Amino acid sequence: RLSRSLSISSLSGLPLWKEESLPVQDLLLFEVSWEVTNKVGGIYTVIQTKAKITVDEWGENYIMMGPYYEHNFKTQVEKCEPPNQAIKAAMDSLINNGSQVHFGRWLIEGSPYVILFDIGAAAWNLDRWKGDLWNACSIGLPYHDREANDSLIFGSLVAWFFKELTDQLQDKPNVIAHFHEWQAGTGLLLSHFRKIPLATIFTTHATLLGRYLCAGNADFYNNLDKFNIDREAGERQIYHRYCLERAAVHCAHVFTTVSQITAVEANHMLHRQPDVVTPNGLNVRKFSAMHEFQNLHSMNKAKIQEFVRGHFYGHLDFDLEKTLFFFIAGRYEFSNKGADLFLESLSRLNYLLRVHKSDVTVVVFFIMPAKTNNFNVESLKGQAVRKQLWDTAQFVKEKFGKRLYESLLRGEIPDMSKILDRDDFTIMKRAIYGTQIVFHPEFLSSTSPLLPMDYEEFVRGCHLGVFPSYYEPWGYTPGECTVMGIPSVTTNLSGFGCFMEEHVSDPSEYGIYIVDRRFRSADESCNQLTQFMFSFCQQSRRQRIIQRNRTERLSDLLDWRYLGRFYMYARHLALSRSFPSEFKMDHLNITQGFRYPRPSSVPPSPSASLHSTPHHSDEEDDDTYDEEEEAERDRQNIKAPFTLGAEPEG
Ligand code: UDP
Ligand code: G6P
Ligand code: GLC
Repeated sequence: RLSRSLSISSLSGLPLWKEESLPVQDLLLFEVSWEVTNKVGGIYTVIQTKAKITVDEWGENYIMMGPYYEHNFKTQVEKCEPPNQAIKAAMDSLINNGSQVHFGRWLIEGSPYVILFDIGAAAWNLDRWKGDLWNACSIGLPYHDREANDSLIFGSLVAWFFKELTDQLQDKPNVIAHFHEWQAGTGLLLSHFRKIPLATIFTTHATLLGRYLCAGNADFYNNLDKFNIDREAGERQIYHRYCLERAAVHCAHVFTTVSQITAVEANHMLHRQPDVVTPNGLNVRKFSAMHEFQNLHSMNKAKIQEFVRGHFYGHLDFDLEKTLFFFIAGRYEFSNKGADLFLESLSRLNYLLRVHKSDVTVVVFFIMPAKTNNFNVESLKGQAVRKQLWDTAQFVKEKFGKRLYESLLRGEIPDMSKILDRDDFTIMKRAIYGTQIVFHPEFLSSTSPLLPMDYEEFVRGCHLGVFPSYYEPWGYTPGECTVMGIPSVTTNLSGFGCFMEEHVSDPSEYGIYIVDRRFRSADESCNQLTQFMFSFCQQSRRQRIIQRNRTERLSDLLDWRYLGRFYMYARHLALSRSFPSEFKMDHLNITQGFRYPRPSSVPPSPSASLHSTPHHSDEEDDDTYDEEEEAERDRQNIKAPFTLGAEPEG
C-alpha cells in the first residue's frame, strides 16, 4: 500500500508572462533528440507530433537534430540544401574534417528541417572524445556500453556544430538549443563546458534510475527520498549514464519534464526541481464529418474481426457481434507497463463474466514488440486458411450466381439442391478440413501477413485500451486512444492519468478510467481494474457509442495548439536566463488550473452513471441521437485550457 506522502499537488497552471511571442526572426531554434527520424518509443511521438505547431511559429528558423541512419533517411527525409548560410558553413566545417552530416526536410506534417549526424562515420574519434568528456566533467564511459558511446559521439558532433555555428553568427541571431533525454544531453553538457553561447533547455521523459528501480520491483514511490541514488546507479551498472543525465540536467538553463509525477521523481533522482512541466500533446486531426471517427471504428473493427475469424477458426464458438476487443501496447517493460496487473485482472474478469453468465466475449491483444525470429507458422496457417475459405466462398458464390442467372434467363426457378455440382462440394470440404488450431497473435504493421493494420487503424478498431502502468512519465497510448474516440484505462502513477484527473471533473464519464495504483494495494488495484473492465462489458452498444463520442470530445485538451504553450514558456525562460540583457520575462500571475466539467447528460452521482444515458438498447445503432445537443451543451461549459485571452484559431 502506498502512503500519501507523495504529494503532487501543484496544478499544472502556466505562469503568465508578458510577451508571449518571441522575435523568432532574430533567433534560431534547434531541437536535439536521438528519436528525430528514428522511432524508438514515445519521444518520437513528442517530436513528430509537435513539429507542425513549431514550424508554424518558427518557420525556417526551426531545425531538428538527430542521428543519421541510411534507411530512415531514404524513407523519411527529402534531401535539400540548408537555407541558412551559417548552418551550411558549420556543416561544411564538420564535413571537411571527416564527419558526415546530412540535411533535409523530414516528411511529416510541418516538413521541419533536420540535420542528421552519422555516428558510425565519426566513431574513429571515440577515444579522443572520451578524453574530452573526462577533461570537461570527469565522467568516464566503459568501452562496452554501445548506447553511451553513441551518445558521446552524437553529443560531440552536436557541440562541435554549435561551436562552428555560433562562431559564424557572432552575436546574432541568438540560438536556443533544446535537448531531449540523456542520449542527447551529452551535447548540452559539452556545449556548456565549452562556453558556447546558447540558451539551453533539457527535457527528460523519464529518469534512468526511476525506470530501472521500478522495473526491479522496488517500492519506488514510498521510498523516493530514501534511495542512495549513487549506489543504486552503481549497482545497476548505469553509473556513467546516470552521471551524463544528471550533468545535463544541472547544466541546462531550463530543466523540464513531461508530468508533475516525473517532476517529483526528478527532484529526488536528479536533484533538480524542473522549472516547467511540459505535458505531451498530439497533433489532433478533426474530421469534417462529426461522426467519421465512429465510422472508422466500425471499418477497422471489421478488419480485426477478420483476423479473429482466422485466428480462432475451428474454435470460434463465440458471437463476434458480442465480442469486445481490448489491448495493451508499448515497449516491453512487463511490470512498468502494468502487463502483470492486466493479466491478473483479466483472469478475475473471466471469472465474473462466467458467474454472471454474460454472453460477451473479450479478445485481448498484447502489442509489445519483443525479440522475435519469425512469424509463428501456425498463426500464419490460420490466416491462410481463413483467406482460403473466403476465396472458396467467393468462387462458389460466383458459380452459383452465374447458374442462377442463366436459369432465370430461361424463365426457370432452378432446383437449389442441384445448382452446385459435386466438384463444388469437394472444393468446399477441402477448404473446411484444413483447420482446427488455436493460434497466438503476432506483430502489428500494415504489411504484416497476420494482422495487416497499422497501429492507428488497430486502435480505432478496438473497444478499450488498457494501460495500467506502474512507471509511466507520460504514456502516449491512452492519449492516442482519446483523440481517436476510444476509451482507455490509465493509472494515477502515469503522467497522463494525473493530468486527466487534474483537468477533468469525472474522467470515467469521458471514458478515461484511472486505476489507483498509488494509495491501494496491488490486489485492490487489480480488483478496481477488473471492475472497470466488467462495467465496460456490461454496456450496451448504444452506451459504447455515446461514450466514444464523449471520449473524443476531450481531444482539445491534448492538442499541441494548447500544450505547445508550455514549450514556448520554457524557451522564453531559457533566453531570459542566458541572455538577460536582451530578453526579459515579466511574470504576471498564475493561471487557474482548468477543469472539464462532467458531461451535461450525466447526473451528479457517479454510481448512477452507467445507465444514465438514454436508450440503451443493444439493437440501436443510430449514433447521432441527441449527441449533438449534448456536445453543444458541453462546449458551452468548456473553456479552452491554459489560455487567458487569446483563443487558438480554427
Ligand atoms: N506504438 C506504435 N506501434 C505499436 C505500439 C505502440 O507506434 O505497435 C507507439 C504509440 O503510438 C506511442 C508509442 O509507441 O506513441 C509509445 O509511447 P508511450 O509514451 O506510451 O510509451 P514509451 O514506449 O515511450 O514508454
Ligand atoms: C460505430 C458505427 C455504428 C456501429 C458501432 C459499433 O458507432 O458508426 O454503426 O454500430 O460503431 O459499436 P461497437 O462498440 O459495438 O463496436
Ligand atoms: C518516455 C516515457 C513515456 C512518455 C514518453 C514521451 O518514453 O516512458 O511515458 O510518454 O517518454 O514523453
